Amino acid sequence: MALDFEEIKATEDGLDVGARIERYASEGWESIPEDDRDARLKWWGVFYRKQTPGLFMMRIRIPNGIATNEQLEALGQIANEFGRGAIDITTRQQVQLRWLRIEDVPEILRRLKEVGLVTLQTGMDNIRNVVGCSAAGVTPNELFDASGVVREFTEIFVGNRAFTNLPRKFNVAITACLDNCVMAETQDLALIPATKEIGGRVLPGFNVLVGGKMGSGGYRIASPLDVFVEPHEAPRVAAEVIAIFRDYGSRQARNRSRFAFLVEEWGEARLRDELEDRLERPLARAGADARNAGTTDHVGVWRQASPGMNYVGLLVPVGRTSGKHFIELARLSKRYGKGEARFTIGQNILVPHVSDKDLTHVLESELLKELPYAPSTFARGTVSCTGKDFCALALIETKTYALDLVAAIEKERASPKRPISVNWSGCPAGCGSHQASDIGFVGRQTRVDGKVIDAVDVYVGGSSGPGAVPGMKVMENVPCTELPKLVGFLSQYGDYQHLHKQLQQLAATPAA
Ligand code: HEM
Ligand code: SF4
Repeated sequence: MALDFEEIKATEDGLDVGARIERYASEGWESIPEDDRDARLKWWGVFYRKQTPGLFMMRIRIPNGIATNEQLEALGQIANEFGRGAIDITTRQQVQLRWLRIEDVPEILRRLKEVGLVTLQTGMDNIRNVVGCSAAGVTPNELFDASGVVREFTEIFVGNRAFTNLPRKFNVAITACLDNCVMAETQDLALIPATKEIGGRVLPGFNVLVGGKMGSGGYRIASPLDVFVEPHEAPRVAAEVIAIFRDYGSRQARNRSRFAFLVEEWGEARLRDELEDRLERPLARAGADARNAGTTDHVGVWRQASPGMNYVGLLVPVGRTSGKHFIELARLSKRYGKGEARFTIGQNILVPHVSDKDLTHVLESELLKELPYAPSTFARGTVSCTGKDFCALALIETKTYALDLVAAIEKERASPKRPISVNWSGCPAGCGSHQASDIGFVGRQTRVDGKVIDAVDVYVGGSSGPGAVPGMKVMENVPCTELPKLVGFLSQYGDYQHLHKQLQQLAATPAA
């Protein structure tokens, strides 16, 4: 029988399962009752995976995707010792370890704690990892470094029982990057860079967007709340928005309980009034949007704001990496950087603070032979959800198809001239953000000559950023084996927004 998540949350705070982890570790995975195994353990970032019977995945929270070399080293060691060396980088700038036994979870948690990492509230109806610009504090293209606001806000809610029983999950982005690198429009709450004249001074801060979402019900582009906040007030305002969702969000049907539905029901004006009531003060109306028109993925070699310094963005094909890579990354970032690396929402890695003098050493290192800084445009833009390997909901294996498609496009030299985004979701849940990318694929099964085969529905022209539009479904049931041909054709367009517009016009024209 399907679990009743509202009942599970009402019976006990999800965080309380922490007290039982030691016991489960000594009694084995089969001793874990279903409601703890398939729900509450996710408050501790421990996910039972049906695809690997008896074994678990752990999701580690990395605020703003920024990790120290001690953390990278610990993650690499844990993966090698307990998890067959497997590490995935996710599109929320987190890390997922796999093949883990419940017996080892207490030791893993202890080692993570030692280096300041937590797994808390990374699944189920919680505030998920707060994403931010992976080049925060180093890129010249930012209004200010917003990573401190991400950390401050994260400290408010992690381990805080005021935020552990939400109607549904809640995604937050906080960024002052001018190049739209965090898909702000897809988030339940996004703080984006803006300036506002207050008291005769032009202040840097954020405009607030609310109610973005993706997935099976479609992409709702986050709408402006018409509010400007300064960095120092942002964490409290963000927390209060989420408290409103906690108190008023619908808990009836899980497919209609995301914050977007409350925003639709109330409208932005009522939400703003409620927020001002709770804060007991008026909020400034939105400031001037500071963002540029395009987007960036931060892959490649880029100049930092400080002279003579660079950050290097490495491609991790479909985010699949290893303990060995992490240990090498820790070494590299310590030797040639400031002992820090960052994860991007494109499932890639960034090494900041590399001086001009050290740049060649980094670019010629063994790690960069496997994780290139100058990949083909098609490889560079490819992002994939987990797929059938580890996800019980998947209808197809995504990451392997994605890599095969990259290889086929590269072989045909059909990579488009400018970077594009190519996002794969293995099922309509849409974890791969397929509707916010130039080309999006959603896995499904189809029948050809009486045989069931892997196929996809194809979307084009989706985007995030100031002119965000949802991708449009243009084809259904395309066998995965036919994709190189189709993508080769689409690649001729180069500009998928343009293709999207053309197709929309075509769809609006009645057939003769
Ligand atoms: C009914 C809806 C959904 C279900 C059941 C679902 C399920 C899952 C599962 C099972 C995983 C982990 C698979 C693994 O790696 O072992 C996952 C990961 C993920 N999903 Fe979903 N998902 C849903 C909707 C969404 C939506 C709408 C998004 C937004 C784009 C999303 C974003 C993600 C992300 C970013 C991850 C990687 C982990 C992280 O960093 O949070 N999911 N999802
Ligand atoms: S999109 Fe579907 S297949 Fe992919 S991780 Fe999400 S639930 Fe699993």
